[in-house]
Amino acid sequence: MTTGTSTGTGAATQPDIYSPDVYAVAPPHEAFAELRRTEPVYFQEMDGEPGYWAVLRHADVVHVAREPVLFSASEGGVVLENLDPVNLEMMRNMLLAMDPPRHVDYRRPLSPSFKARVIGKLEDRIRTICREIMDRAAGQGDVEFVHEVTAHLPSQVIGELMGLPREDWPTIHHLAEMQTSGQDADLVAENSDYIAASGQQASIDMAMYAIGFATRRRAEAPREDLTTLILESDFGGHPMSDIDFGSFFVQLVTAGNDTTKTMLSSGLHALLTHPDQLAELRADPSLIGGAVEEILRWANPLHYFRRTASADTAIRGVPIKAGDKVAMYYTSANRDEAVFNDPQRFDIHRSPNPHLSFGIAEHYCLGVHLARLEGRVFFEELLATFPTIELTGAPVRTRSNLNNALKRLPVRLSR
Ligand code: HEM
Repeated sequence: MTTGTSTGTGAATQPDIYSPDVYAVAPPHEAFAELRRTEPVYFQEMDGEPGYWAVLRHADVVHVAREPVLFSASEGGVVLENLDPVNLEMMRNMLLAMDPPRHVDYRRPLSPSFKARVIGKLEDRIRTICREIMDRAAGQGDVEFVHEVTAHLPSQVIGELMGLPREDWPTIHHLAEMQTSGQDADLVAENSDYIAASGQQASIDMAMYAIGFATRRRAEAPREDLTTLILESDFGGHPMSDIDFGSFFVQLVTAGNDTTKTMLSSGLHALLTHPDQLAELRADPSLIGGAVEEILRWANPLHYFRRTASADTAIRGVPIKAGDKVAMYYTSANRDEAVFNDPQRFDIHRSPNPHLSFGIAEHYCLGVHLARLEGRVFFEELLATFPTIELTGAPVRTRSNLNNALKRLPVRLSR
């Protein structure tokens, strides 16, 4: 074990909240609850590299997110593992890992396209796509819900928004999944047609695809899609280079794909294991919007994002040194008893529901309105199409300490 730049209290008996093996079984909600009480800014060791400060309370996650200069997304990127220089450089070209003022320059041109009113116009199109997905699934009856049902919605929506050729959607989808499944040998093996040994390689492959795509699109007439918007916008006084576009594309496509897919599959699982609440939704579909928020809180698709302290500071009195890794644990903050009543309980009526599943402040999810719309319309169409939905086997979780996802959810859909 290597000790971080700051020494913590990580004795052998301390809970391990890093190990992907832990998350393959279930998120460590009990350990989080105990630590929120006893050690809410908790030092977690990592093998072979410095460990990190896990920030577990809602208020402290908000504090870290609201100080983007003190807690930099760019310095060490947003994942816990230190990246090699090529991958760190690539990550720094993603909006997610930019610091002010560059972050503002890159986010501003995109924001109007993601506003609630603009995204709201996609509702009919999203409903059509959902109906096609439900029709195909109805023909099958017994499905592996993650790959055969949920995966199609976000990859088609983001594919259409970006203007990607339809024949490339499966490739893009596989690469997106690879990037977020690098810790799961099973998923890496399943996608070995890309011979991508790790999530990092998949990011590079996708960026290469994007660079080729940008070159082709620059040679064509502008279209009404996000690709034209990005290629024609001014980002802090200059257009985006093809290499910048590559990283940017990777983030947009990955962010919009796997998280949404996870919201849909974990959401169905939550409803199937709370049949009384599922029955309520069937009786009154106007409750679906609130149910989607509770799905996001209770089964948040991303466990954490990382920052790096740019100066010596303290969180809740715990000294943090410049250069230390700091992880904002959404999974813990979303169940903070100081904010949520009976936080371990899944409750579609929870209101207000100030979960942090989309982050908060500077980096607040750009796709939040799109994700919510996809969630609501998907569940409206799913429940309207299938009066009976049953689990036909045990769900299997992805082995990942970042993605809080199911990789298999076998169900029977009956009309
Ligand atoms: C349920 C689905 C989704 C979840 C849970 C989610 C979650 C998040 C979170 C937690 C962040 C904040 C990162 C931080 O603070 O460092 C974020 C940022 C971002 N998300 Fe999402 N996201 C979802 C869907 C989407 C979709 C559909 C898109 C786009 C099509 C998208 C695009 C982005 C972008 C571009 C950022 C970076 C924003 C910035 O750094 O300024 N996301 N997302």
